Amino acid sequence: MGIKEKIEALRNQLHEHNRRYYIEDAPVISDFEFDMLLKELESLEAAHPEYADPNSPSVRVGGGITKSFNTVQHRYSMLSLSNSYSLEEIQEWITRVQKSAPEATFVCELKYDGVAIGIRYENGVLVQAVTRGDGTQGDDITANVRTIRSIPLKLNGEFPEDFEIRGEIVMPHAAFNSLNGKRTAAGLPSFANPRNCASGTLKLQDSSEVASRGLDAYLYYVLPEGVVSPSHAGAIRAAGVMGFKVPLEKNRFIEECDSIDQIMDFIGHWDTARKDLPFDIDGIVIKVDSYAAQQELGFTAKSPRWATAYKFKAERVSTVLNEVTYQVGRTGAITPVANLEPVWLGGTTVKRASLHNSDQIELLNLYLGDSVFVEKGGEIIPKVVGVDLDKRAEDAAEVIFIEECPECATSLVRKEGEAQHYCPNTDSCPPQVSGRIEHYISRKAMDIAGMGSETVQLFVKKGLIKHPGDLYSLTFDELIELEGFKEKSVHNILDGILQSKEVPFERVLFGLGIRHVGATVAKKLAKHFGSMFALAEATIEDITAVDSMGEVIAREVHGYFRSEKNATVLDALVDAGVQMEMIQTEESITESPITGAKIVVSGVFERFSRTELKDTIEKYGGQNVGSISGKTNYVVAGEGMGPSKLKKAESLGVPILSEQDFIELLGL
Ligand code: IVH
Repeated sequence: MGIKEKIEALRNQLHEHNRRYYIEDAPVISDFEFDMLLKELESLEAAHPEYADPNSPSVRVGGGITKSFNTVQHRYSMLSLSNSYSLEEIQEWITRVQKSAPEATFVCELKYDGVAIGIRYENGVLVQAVTRGDGTQGDDITANVRTIRSIPLKLNGEFPEDFEIRGEIVMPHAAFNSLNGKRTAAGLPSFANPRNCASGTLKLQDSSEVASRGLDAYLYYVLPEGVVSPSHAGAIRAAGVMGFKVPLEKNRFIEECDSIDQIMDFIGHWDTARKDLPFDIDGIVIKVDSYAAQQELGFTAKSPRWATAYKFKAERVSTVLNEVTYQVGRTGAITPVANLEPVWLGGTTVKRASLHNSDQIELLNLYLGDSVFVEKGGEIIPKVVGVDLDKRAEDAAEVIFIEECPECATSLVRKEGEAQHYCPNTDSCPPQVSGRIEHYISRKAMDIAGMGSETVQLFVKKGLIKHPGDLYSLTFDELIELEGFKEKSVHNILDGILQSKEVPFERVLFGLGIRHVGATVAKKLAKHFGSMFALAEATIEDITAVDSMGEVIAREVHGYFRSEKNATVLDALVDAGVQMEMIQTEESITESPITGAKIVVSGVFERFSRTELKDTIEKYGGQNVGSISGKTNYVVAGEGMGPSKLKKAESLGVPILSEQDFIELLGL
């Protein structure tokens, strides 16, 4: 078998395993075997860029950067649906339809709460994916959509030569919670609900980040109508055979109904069962099944007459606002919290709800003792959505956002353009001090067993520790004197601290709690720079040159190492013998003409994504740097490289390589 055939065969195998895993939920090989096949394909593709294919299963990991999304005209406009919160109105709609099209039967489906997408396939291959936009034109987000594993890149069996399929991209709860957890740990704002999160993710410029976030998709509309079947239910079944993830009758995500009773039963079922779904839905869509009947009914200006949506009321209860308290995070961010009279909502008792920031409090026009409405935002985090003004007591006091830190009385600050207030007393505000140490000892960082938040807070209060570096000078005699501390627990704590000296550098870096540096970013930085010392010396440009690091991260990291207080912490950690550099592993670096060379990559490329190009440079022993200087050995210039950069390279006499020159230089 030639290389080309081998690549083709691997791609076909992987497409099929993807389908079995993501669509049928019935894999026939292990994850490990799948990864091995994928690795084999990736290495063949890297060695033979001439056989590149945008629909290769390897694109699922992303990598391409889209600077800005092109606007694309929809072939068929993307309309919305009429909707109602009232079952009576839904029944009236059904009766109306039955009157104008007596032969009509219906299909009920879930109304997925995500981001609408239209995907075009030509000759069974995905060619373009466009957001709804204003209904007539949307954004081309093809590169990002290709990373969603439940969307087939190549179709099976029979399919129309050129057609579009529409559906909804959703962020499952598990992926949403895990992402928000990571963001909170990195000091980043969390997404309010899975829909915002899906929509924000699809607008990311870096498709490898999209790939890592676990989006899913359900497809529910084949266009043009009638190309695959005379009925909607038939079209959905046919799309399932082609390899799309479509709603299945088996789990009642879709049901053919011919009476009001059946439709009401479907709605009733999901009104409760939706709470157990792994993603959000916000209603039920009812459609006329046959396309002939749909045509008879036609459209209004905004929506089809052959479909409507019953919307579930967001679960909302009313309760009393007792008090507003303020939490101080480890970064000093102040979060106002509504303390409520306990109330039962969506399966749990709610006592507290986030008020986000001072703007939100002003917007709600909140008074103490108010009767407030509480909803589960995106079904997960309770939030105060409004006030029942009729019930406000005459002498009620307005909620005024605090001006001083509730923990240390320092005046709060609010940076221009930011919604959050901060306590600037980073050094001695107790929750900030203990918050940083709690982060340092946490499982994903130094994993110091035997110590919890309360222990940290106590040690801070007793003046035993001020920063992570102080942990290493704690003594047995000091701790055994504390109330409630027995020999065994003191030994456990000290052993845990001692063992943390073996924790790898990347986790030490994460443990420092630099804003925006979550576990993944820390790993990338550690791998790239190799040691704390190299990272401390890096310029902002050096940091942004690392795969997917933006300006914001770079500024925080750079700033961290320029603070004297942080230098004290780092010195103490170095003295203690904590890991400050990567342990050299046997990662194979190929000797090549660029070994040891400092290389700047600029512009966009045809065969490589920027990430791939940078990875290739590292693989062949080169070093990626951010800005051109006298020390730069090469510039690899792609399309759109800035004229000033070009001029600088020329004036310094730095050799400029085109993508083709680079490929030839390395004999790729
Ligand atoms: S059919 C002509 N089916 O809800 C309209 N839409 O509020 C055809 N949606 O724009 C749309 N689940 O983004 C349809 N099972 C489903 C749906 C669904 C969610 C979304 C879709 C639509 C919006 C209307």
